[in-house]
Amino acid sequence: MKPDQQRGGVVPLAARTSRLRSSAIGSVLRLAESPGIIALAAGSPARELFPNAAVQEVTDRLLRDDPDALQYGDTAGLAPLREWIATRSGTRLGTDPRPDHVTLTHGSQQALDLICKTLIDPGDVVVVDRPSYLGALQVFRLFEADVASIPLADDERLDALSTALRGGLRPRFLYVVPDFANPTGATLSLLQRRRLVELADRYGFFIVEDDPYGELRYDPYDRPGLPALASLSDRVLRLESFSKVLFPAARLGHVTAPAELAPVIGMFKQAADLGNSGFIERVVLELVTRPGFTDDLVQAARLLYAQRRDALVAGLRRYFGDKLDFAVPGGGFFVWARFPDATNADDLLTRALTHRVSYVPGTDFYAAAPDRATLRLSFSAVGPDQLTEAAHRLYLTWAERQDGVVR
Ligand SMILES: Cc1ncc(COP(=O)(O)O)c(C=O)c1O
Repeated sequence: MKPDQQRGGVVPLAARTSRLRSSAIGSVLRLAESPGIIALAAGSPARELFPNAAVQEVTDRLLRDDPDALQYGDTAGLAPLREWIATRSGTRLGTDPRPDHVTLTHGSQQALDLICKTLIDPGDVVVVDRPSYLGALQVFRLFEADVASIPLADDERLDALSTALRGGLRPRFLYVVPDFANPTGATLSLLQRRRLVELADRYGFFIVEDDPYGELRYDPYDRPGLPALASLSDRVLRLESFSKVLFPAARLGHVTAPAELAPVIGMFKQAADLGNSGFIERVVLELVTRPGFTDDLVQAARLLYAQRRDALVAGLRRYFGDKLDFAVPGGGFFVWARFPDATNADDLLTRALTHRVSYVPGTDFYAAAPDRATLRLSFSAVGPDQLTEAAHRLYLTWAERQDGVVR
C-alpha cells in the first residue's frame, strides 16, 4: 500500500468493485440459518439425501489405498471423471462431447466466471431471461456486460428476442436455465429450444445452457425430458453441477464447451486456482461410477422433492386461495409466486421474518425494472409439515399487512 493511501485511511479499491452489490445470495443464506425460521429462502438440497455413509467409506478407502489421493492433479479436472461426464452426456443427452472439451469447475458458479473471462469485454451484450438466476446476473455485472433481459420462457415463439435481434441487438451469448429454472421453475418448450438455436445460428451468438435441475423432474419422473440445447446446436456451452443431486459441499460442476473455447476456459481455470480439489474429484468419481448409485440417488430425490413441492403447493392453495398466483413447477426447487394485489414482497420480508418464515423477494432476479410483487419460495430443504406451516405463516404475514395491523 502506498504511504499516502495509508495516511488517508481509505484503501482505494479497483474500479470494478463499484459494481459489487451487497451479496444478495449471502444475505439469503444468512436468513435461512436464523434459528426458528422456516427457510424458504435458500435453494439448498435436502440434507436427508446426502450420501454421508458412502462418502465416508470412499474417503477411508482412498486415503488407505491411493497414494495420490492428496496430490495436485490435472488443472482441467481428473481425466476419468471428465470421461465419465462425456459418456454420460452421450447416453443422457445424445451429445457426443470429447472429454477434453469438459472443464471441471468449482461449482457451476465458477463456470459462469470463466465463461465471462473467455467471452466478455466491457459493454458486450449478454441476453438473459426475465427474471433470471441472480448468481449469474451478479457475475455478468462484474464483467461490465450490458445485460439485456428479454422474456424467454414466457414467450412461446420468442418474438421479443427475434424482434430485438432484427433491430440490431448483437449478444456475445444468451444465458438460460432451460429446465425448471431458478427462480421461476419454468421449462423451455421444444419449439422455444428449436427457435433459440436457430436464432443463435442466424445471428452468431453462443448459448450458455445452465442445467443444475434437469434431472430433478417430477411430472412424470420416469419419462425423458426435452432435448438439451447442447444436443441441438454446437454453439452451446453446457453447465452442469453435482451440487443438487450429489452434495453442494463438493463444489463441483463442469462446463462442456465448443472446441474453440474449451482450451481457453481451461487456461482461465488454471490461472484461477490450478484446478479443483483432486481429492473431492476422486470421491465423486468413485461414487458416481458405483453401479446404480447415481440413478438411485436421482430417483430418491425426485420422490422426496415431488412430495415437498406438493405440500407447499397445497398449503399455498389452502391458505391463499386466489390471493397468490403461481404455476406448479414440474421439477427443480422453486415455486415462483406473485401477489395479484401487487403487495410489495420486498417490504413484506421483514414482517415475514417476525412470523419466522423466509423467502427471497423477486427483485434481485431482475436485471432491470423488477416486478416487486414477486417472490421465490424454495421447497427443497424443508419437510412437508413445515411447508404447510410456512404457507400458513406467509398467509398471516400477508393478511396482517392487508389489515394494516403492525404487531
Ligand atoms: C441456475 C443455477 N446456476 C448455478 C448455480 C450454482 O450452483 P453450484 O455452483 O453449486 O454448482 C445455481 C445454484 O443454486 C443455480 O440455481
